[in-house]
Amino acid sequence: MPASPDEVKRFEEISQLLLLPGKIFRTTYRGRFAQVDPVLDQVLGRLFAPSTPLLVYDWGASNCLTSAEWARTLFARFSNAQLVASDICLDLVEATRGKPGESWIYESGSGVLLQYLRGPFVVPYLWQDSPVFLVNRFWRWYGRRAGFSWNNIPPAFLSGSVENTAVNGWNLTRIPLAHPEARELALADTRFRMERHSIFDPAARPGHAVRTMNILNRQYFDAAQLEQSIAAVWRSLIPGGLWIVGRTTGTTDQGEQKVNQVSFLRKAAETFELVERIGPGSEIEDLGLSFRAPKE
Ligand SMILES: C[S@@+](CC[C@H](N)C(=O)[O-])C[C@H]1O[C@@H](n2cnc3c(N)ncnc32)[C@H](O)[C@@H]1O
Repeated sequence: MPASPDEVKRFEEISQLLLLPGKIFRTTYRGRFAQVDPVLDQVLGRLFAPSTPLLVYDWGASNCLTSAEWARTLFARFSNAQLVASDICLDLVEATRGKPGESWIYESGSGVLLQYLRGPFVVPYLWQDSPVFLVNRFWRWYGRRAGFSWNNIPPAFLSGSVENTAVNGWNLTRIPLAHPEARELALADTRFRMERHSIFDPAARPGHAVRTMNILNRQYFDAAQLEQSIAAVWRSLIPGGLWIVGRTTGTTDQGEQKVNQVSFLRKAAETFELVERIGPGSEIEDLGLSFRAPKE
Protein backbone atom coordinates (compact mmCIF):
# COMPACT_ATOMS: atom_id res chain seq x y z
CA MET A 1 0.00 0.00 0.00
CA PRO A 2 1.47 3.43 -0.91
CA ALA A 3 2.50 5.64 2.03
CA SER A 4 -0.08 8.29 2.98
CA PRO A 5 0.84 12.00 2.54
CA ASP A 6 1.18 12.24 6.37
CA GLU A 7 3.57 9.28 6.46
CA VAL A 8 5.64 10.80 3.64
CA LYS A 9 5.76 14.16 5.47
CA ARG A 10 6.84 12.49 8.71
CA PHE A 11 9.49 10.44 6.88
CA GLU A 12 10.89 13.58 5.20
CA GLU A 13 11.03 15.52 8.49
CA ILE A 14 12.78 12.75 10.41
CA SER A 15 15.23 11.77 7.67
CA GLN A 16 16.66 15.34 7.54
CA LEU A 17 17.66 15.02 11.20
CA LEU A 18 19.52 11.73 10.95
CA LEU A 19 23.19 11.80 11.82
CA LEU A 20 24.96 8.62 10.82
CA PRO A 21 28.53 7.29 11.15
CA GLY A 22 30.92 9.45 9.12
CA LYS A 23 28.89 12.49 10.26
CA ILE A 24 27.89 13.47 6.73
CA PHE A 25 24.37 14.83 6.73
CA ARG A 26 21.73 13.14 4.61
CA THR A 27 20.22 16.41 3.40
CA THR A 28 18.16 15.98 0.26
CA TYR A 29 14.73 17.14 -0.83
CA ARG A 30 12.13 16.97 -3.55
CA GLY A 31 12.95 19.01 -6.63
CA ARG A 32 16.56 19.63 -5.59
CA PHE A 33 17.77 18.83 -9.13
CA ALA A 34 14.82 20.22 -11.10
CA GLN A 35 17.37 22.50 -12.80
CA VAL A 36 19.97 19.73 -13.26
CA ASP A 37 18.02 16.71 -14.55
CA PRO A 38 16.91 18.28 -17.89
CA VAL A 39 20.50 19.37 -18.66
CA LEU A 40 21.80 15.95 -17.63
CA ASP A 41 19.29 14.13 -19.84
CA GLN A 42 20.17 16.45 -22.74
CA VAL A 43 23.90 15.76 -22.36
CA LEU A 44 23.20 12.01 -22.24
CA GLY A 45 21.04 12.51 -25.35
CA ARG A 46 24.05 14.06 -27.13
CA LEU A 47 26.31 11.16 -26.13
CA PHE A 48 24.02 8.13 -26.52
CA ALA A 49 21.19 7.09 -28.86
CA PRO A 50 17.71 6.88 -27.24
CA SER A 51 17.61 3.09 -27.73
CA THR A 52 20.87 2.55 -25.74
CA PRO A 53 20.34 0.31 -22.71
CA LEU A 54 21.94 2.91 -20.43
CA LEU A 55 23.21 1.85 -17.02
CA VAL A 56 23.50 4.89 -14.75
CA TYR A 57 24.46 5.24 -11.10
CA ASP A 58 23.44 7.85 -8.54
CA TRP A 59 25.97 7.63 -5.67
CA GLY A 60 25.56 9.08 -2.16
CA ALA A 61 21.84 9.31 -2.90
CA SER A 62 20.64 9.59 0.72
CA ASN A 63 16.98 8.52 0.72
CA CYS A 64 17.03 8.18 -3.11
CA LEU A 65 14.11 10.59 -3.67
CA THR A 66 16.13 12.70 -6.13
CA SER A 67 17.23 9.46 -7.85
CA ALA A 68 13.57 8.46 -8.31
CA GLU A 69 12.86 11.94 -9.73
CA TRP A 70 15.76 11.57 -12.16
CA ALA A 71 14.55 8.06 -13.12
CA ARG A 72 11.22 9.48 -14.30
CA THR A 73 12.79 11.97 -16.75
CA LEU A 74 15.57 9.56 -17.77
CA PHE A 75 13.18 6.69 -18.58
CA ALA A 76 11.01 9.05 -20.65
CA ARG A 77 14.00 9.69 -22.94
CA PHE A 78 15.83 6.34 -22.63
CA SER A 79 13.17 3.67 -22.19
CA ASN A 80 15.78 0.87 -21.93
CA ALA A 81 17.81 2.61 -19.20
CA GLN A 82 18.48 1.25 -15.72
CA LEU A 83 19.18 3.52 -12.77
CA VAL A 84 20.93 2.22 -9.66
CA ALA A 85 20.70 4.58 -6.66
CA SER A 86 23.05 3.92 -3.79
CA ASP A 87 24.22 5.19 -0.45
CA ILE A 88 26.57 3.96 2.23
CA CYS A 89 23.52 3.62 4.47
CA LEU A 90 20.10 2.55 3.20
CA ASP A 91 18.62 1.18 6.40
CA LEU A 92 18.90 0.91 10.16
CA VAL A 93 18.28 -2.11 12.36
CA GLU A 94 16.22 -2.06 15.54
CA ALA A 95 17.14 -4.82 18.01
CA THR A 96 14.78 -5.68 20.87
CA ARG A 97 14.67 -8.56 23.31
CA GLY A 98 11.07 -8.53 24.47
CA LYS A 99 11.27 -5.84 27.15
CA PRO A 100 8.72 -3.08 26.36
CA GLY A 101 10.32 0.34 25.84
CA GLU A 102 13.85 -0.98 25.34
CA SER A 103 15.61 -1.07 21.96
CA TRP A 104 18.97 -0.64 20.28
CA ILE A 105 19.38 1.09 16.90
CA TYR A 106 22.29 0.14 14.61
CA GLU A 107 23.48 1.25 11.18
CA SER A 108 22.87 -1.87 9.13
CA GLY A 109 25.97 -1.96 6.92
CA SER A 110 28.60 -1.41 9.60
CA GLY A 111 26.74 -2.57 12.74
CA VAL A 112 27.69 0.72 14.46
CA LEU A 113 25.47 1.32 17.51
CA LEU A 114 23.65 4.65 17.08
CA GLN A 115 21.17 4.80 19.96
CA TYR A 116 19.98 2.93 23.00
CA LEU A 117 16.40 3.65 24.05
CA ARG A 118 15.07 2.75 27.45
CA GLY A 119 11.77 4.23 28.60
CA PRO A 120 12.21 8.02 28.51
CA PHE A 121 16.00 7.79 28.00
CA VAL A 122 17.44 8.17 24.51
CA VAL A 123 21.19 7.61 24.61
CA PRO A 124 23.14 8.70 21.50
CA TYR A 125 26.47 7.08 20.64
CA LEU A 126 27.68 9.27 17.78
CA TRP A 127 27.93 12.33 19.99
CA GLN A 128 28.30 12.82 23.74
CA ASP A 129 25.41 14.38 25.61
CA SER A 130 26.28 16.53 28.64
CA PRO A 131 28.36 14.69 31.29
CA VAL A 132 26.05 16.13 33.97
CA PHE A 133 23.36 13.65 32.85
CA LEU A 134 24.65 10.94 35.19
CA VAL A 135 21.78 8.54 34.51
CA ASN A 136 22.44 8.83 30.77
CA ARG A 137 26.12 8.06 31.41
CA PHE A 138 25.10 4.85 33.15
CA TRP A 139 22.67 3.87 30.37
CA ARG A 140 25.33 4.68 27.75
CA TRP A 141 27.70 2.18 29.40
CA TYR A 142 24.91 -0.36 29.94
CA GLY A 143 23.49 -0.06 26.39
CA ARG A 144 26.88 -0.76 24.82
CA ARG A 145 27.57 -3.67 27.16
CA ALA A 146 24.14 -5.31 26.87
CA GLY A 147 23.48 -4.72 23.16
CA PHE A 148 23.07 -7.26 20.39
CA SER A 149 26.30 -8.94 19.28
CA TRP A 150 26.59 -8.05 15.59
CA ASN A 151 28.69 -11.19 14.92
CA ASN A 152 25.51 -13.26 15.35
CA ILE A 153 23.60 -11.52 12.57
CA PRO A 154 22.10 -13.99 10.06
CA PRO A 155 23.48 -13.48 6.50
CA ALA A 156 19.93 -13.44 4.98
CA PHE A 157 19.07 -10.44 7.16
CA LEU A 158 22.34 -8.69 6.38
CA SER A 159 21.86 -9.14 2.62
CA GLY A 160 18.41 -7.50 2.84
CA SER A 161 16.42 -10.53 1.68
CA VAL A 162 14.33 -10.59 4.90
CA GLU A 163 12.87 -7.67 6.88
CA ASN A 164 12.68 -9.32 10.32
CA THR A 165 14.55 -12.09 12.05
CA ALA A 166 14.92 -13.65 15.48
CA VAL A 167 18.28 -14.73 16.81
CA ASN A 168 19.37 -15.84 20.32
CA GLY A 169 16.32 -14.24 22.00
CA TRP A 170 16.67 -10.98 19.98
CA ASN A 171 14.22 -9.62 17.40
CA LEU A 172 15.80 -7.64 14.59
CA THR A 173 13.73 -5.34 12.37
CA ARG A 174 14.97 -3.39 9.38
CA ILE A 175 14.07 0.33 9.31
CA PRO A 176 14.33 1.47 5.66
CA LEU A 177 15.86 4.90 5.07
CA ALA A 178 14.81 5.02 1.43
CA HIS A 179 12.00 7.48 0.68
CA PRO A 180 8.57 5.82 0.30
CA GLU A 181 8.33 7.11 -3.29
CA ALA A 182 11.70 5.57 -4.16
CA ARG A 183 10.65 2.27 -2.58
CA GLU A 184 7.37 2.33 -4.52
CA LEU A 185 9.19 3.04 -7.79
CA ALA A 186 11.65 0.17 -7.14
CA LEU A 187 8.70 -2.20 -6.59
CA ALA A 188 6.79 -0.98 -9.65
CA ASP A 189 9.66 -0.61 -12.15
CA THR A 190 12.56 -3.07 -12.36
CA ARG A 191 14.62 -0.44 -14.20
CA PHE A 192 15.09 1.38 -10.87
CA ARG A 193 16.84 -0.19 -7.90
CA MET A 194 18.64 0.80 -4.73
CA GLU A 195 21.72 -0.76 -3.18
CA ARG A 196 24.32 -0.13 -0.51
CA HIS A 197 27.57 1.12 -2.02
CA SER A 198 30.52 3.27 -1.01
CA ILE A 199 31.79 6.12 -3.20
CA PHE A 200 35.30 4.70 -2.65
CA ASP A 201 34.50 1.43 -4.46
CA PRO A 202 33.98 0.98 -8.20
CA ALA A 203 30.58 -0.31 -9.31
CA ALA A 204 30.36 -4.05 -10.04
CA ARG A 205 29.64 -3.26 -13.73
CA PRO A 206 30.85 -0.16 -15.61
CA GLY A 207 27.97 2.08 -16.67
CA HIS A 208 27.22 5.02 -18.94
CA ALA A 209 26.98 7.65 -16.17
CA VAL A 210 27.81 8.17 -12.50
CA ARG A 211 26.22 11.07 -10.60
CA THR A 212 27.85 12.22 -7.35
CA MET A 213 25.91 15.26 -6.09
CA ASN A 214 26.59 16.87 -2.71
CA ILE A 215 28.98 14.21 -1.55
CA LEU A 216 32.42 14.76 -3.18
CA ASN A 217 32.97 18.07 -1.39
CA ARG A 218 36.15 19.46 0.15
CA GLN A 219 34.18 20.08 3.33
CA TYR A 220 33.72 16.31 3.75
CA PHE A 221 36.89 14.79 2.30
CA ASP A 222 40.57 15.66 1.83
CA ALA A 223 42.24 15.64 -1.60
CA ALA A 224 43.54 12.06 -1.23
CA GLN A 225 40.05 10.75 -0.40
CA LEU A 226 38.50 12.73 -3.26
CA GLU A 227 41.12 11.29 -5.65
CA GLN A 228 40.34 7.78 -4.41
CA SER A 229 36.67 8.30 -5.16
CA ILE A 230 37.43 9.87 -8.57
CA ALA A 231 39.43 6.70 -9.40
CA ALA A 232 36.37 4.64 -8.41
CA VAL A 233 34.17 6.80 -10.68
CA TRP A 234 36.66 6.30 -13.53
CA ARG A 235 36.57 2.53 -13.15
CA SER A 236 32.75 2.58 -12.93
CA LEU A 237 32.38 4.20 -16.37
CA ILE A 238 32.58 2.72 -19.85
CA PRO A 239 34.83 4.67 -22.29
CA GLY A 240 32.85 7.80 -23.22
CA GLY A 241 30.77 7.57 -20.03
CA LEU A 242 29.66 10.68 -18.13
CA TRP A 243 30.50 11.78 -14.58
CA ILE A 244 28.18 14.40 -13.08
CA VAL A 245 29.64 16.10 -9.99
CA GLY A 246 28.54 19.15 -8.07
CA ARG A 247 26.79 20.66 -5.10
CA THR A 248 23.80 22.73 -4.17
CA THR A 249 24.63 26.07 -2.57
CA GLY A 250 22.67 28.80 -0.85
CA THR A 251 20.18 28.46 1.97
CA THR A 252 16.59 29.54 1.84
CA ASP A 253 16.79 30.41 5.59
CA GLN A 254 19.02 33.34 4.61
CA GLY A 255 16.71 34.28 1.79
CA GLU A 256 19.20 33.09 -0.86
CA GLN A 257 18.05 30.99 -3.72
CA LYS A 258 19.47 27.46 -3.83
CA VAL A 259 21.51 26.87 -6.96
CA ASN A 260 23.37 23.87 -8.31
CA GLN A 261 26.98 24.16 -9.44
CA VAL A 262 27.68 21.15 -11.60
CA SER A 263 30.41 19.83 -13.92
CA PHE A 264 29.71 17.20 -16.57
CA LEU A 265 32.90 15.27 -17.36
CA ARG A 266 33.28 12.63 -20.04
CA LYS A 267 35.68 9.70 -19.74
CA ALA A 268 38.14 10.07 -22.65
CA ALA A 269 41.16 7.85 -23.39
CA GLU A 270 43.23 8.75 -20.31
CA THR A 271 41.54 11.78 -18.74
CA PHE A 272 38.16 13.34 -18.10
CA GLU A 273 37.05 16.07 -20.53
CA LEU A 274 34.64 18.85 -19.60
CA VAL A 275 31.48 18.66 -21.72
CA GLU A 276 29.06 20.94 -19.84
CA ARG A 277 28.74 23.09 -16.73
CA ILE A 278 25.94 24.54 -14.68
CA GLY A 279 27.07 27.79 -13.02
CA PRO A 280 30.79 27.83 -12.23
CA GLY A 281 30.90 24.02 -12.09
CA SER A 282 31.99 21.72 -9.29
CA GLU A 283 34.50 22.82 -6.66
CA ILE A 284 36.46 19.63 -7.45
CA GLU A 285 36.35 20.02 -11.24
CA ASP A 286 40.13 20.75 -11.17
CA LEU A 287 40.78 17.41 -9.43
CA GLY A 288 38.63 15.63 -12.02
CA LEU A 289 40.41 17.29 -14.95
CA SER A 290 43.88 16.55 -13.55
CA PHE A 291 43.04 12.86 -12.99
CA ARG A 292 45.11 10.46 -15.13
CA ALA A 293 43.96 6.90 -15.86
CA PRO A 294 46.08 4.40 -13.96
CA LYS A 295 48.35 2.28 -16.16
CA GLU A 296 46.74 -1.19 -16.42
C1 LIG B 1 24.31 15.41 1.55
S1 LIG B 1 23.71 13.82 1.11
C2 LIG B 1 23.47 14.01 -0.62
C3 LIG B 1 22.21 13.34 -1.10
C4 LIG B 1 21.86 13.54 -2.57
N1 LIG B 1 22.92 13.11 -3.45
C5 LIG B 1 21.54 14.98 -2.85
O1 LIG B 1 22.40 15.70 -3.37
O2 LIG B 1 20.43 15.41 -2.53
C6 LIG B 1 25.22 12.87 1.21
C7 LIG B 1 24.98 11.36 1.27
O3 LIG B 1 26.21 10.68 1.09
C8 LIG B 1 26.18 9.51 1.88
N2 LIG B 1 27.54 9.03 2.10
C9 LIG B 1 28.44 9.41 3.04
N3 LIG B 1 29.58 8.72 2.92
C10 LIG B 1 29.40 7.88 1.87
C11 LIG B 1 30.22 6.89 1.24
N4 LIG B 1 31.47 6.64 1.65
N5 LIG B 1 29.70 6.21 0.20
C12 LIG B 1 28.44 6.44 -0.24
N6 LIG B 1 27.62 7.36 0.31
C13 LIG B 1 28.09 8.07 1.35
C14 LIG B 1 25.47 9.92 3.15
O4 LIG B 1 24.91 8.78 3.81
C15 LIG B 1 24.42 10.89 2.62
O5 LIG B 1 23.20 10.24 2.41
